[in-house]
Amino acid sequence: MNNTKKRPLRLALTKGRLEKDTVALLEKIGYDCKALHEKGRKLILPVGDSIEAVLAKAADVITYVENGVCDMGVVGKDTIMEAGGKFFEVADLGFGRCRFALAGKKGGDFYQGYNVKTIATKYPNVARAFFEKKGMDVDIVKIEGSVELAPLLNLSDAIVDIVETGGTLKENGLEVYEEISPLSARLIVNRVSIKLRQHEIEALVKSIEANL
Ligand code: PRP
Repeated sequence: MNNTKKRPLRLALTKGRLEKDTVALLEKIGYDCKALHEKGRKLILPVGDSIEAVLAKAADVITYVENGVCDMGVVGKDTIMEAGGKFFEVADLGFGRCRFALAGKKGGDFYQGYNVKTIATKYPNVARAFFEKKGMDVDIVKIEGSVELAPLLNLSDAIVDIVETGGTLKENGLEVYEEISPLSARLIVNRVSIKLRQHEIEALVKSIEANL
């Protein structure tokens, strides 16, 4: 079904950490973000006359963009690496900078010994790919949040997680063993929208890039 031309461009925004920076960027370009500032519990909000913002959880941003119900999305590279999907990644927005790292108890010698190590993570696919590349067999335990708890409680030998300031690791007696990859917020576009609404999307991407 193609009714994309009848509605404003739909931009899925990741709620939470990336939201403030995304709104600041839209305002810098000149969009009226009043509705986003006064959103209350609303989930779909106008941004000027030509954009509709959809507030969603990171993984759902990808689902909505992939399925074409949102034309574009702002989502962290961490979620893209974990979830994958069929869409175009058109810009690195520069904010939401952090990194994936392997971490564990301070002073721990992770690579010592031949026993199969247990890794706790919110990102099992990222962790699996990281250890596969090393040719290392590991057990992966999926944790939904505060992954740092797992090595502290001796559930795992290490974690694969996002490190931003490093504060959470430090305050819990943990340290980075190995950097995995740098991360930041990305602008993604649906594969059909990029053709059907090419001019609008190109114009928006250009003004975003000019204001980064
Ligand atoms: C993320 C991540 C770390 C923390 C890192 O968790 O999983 O726990 O932030 O940030 P820092 O290096 O600045 O301390 P988040 O706060 O998103 O919450 P969660 O653990 O509940 O997912």
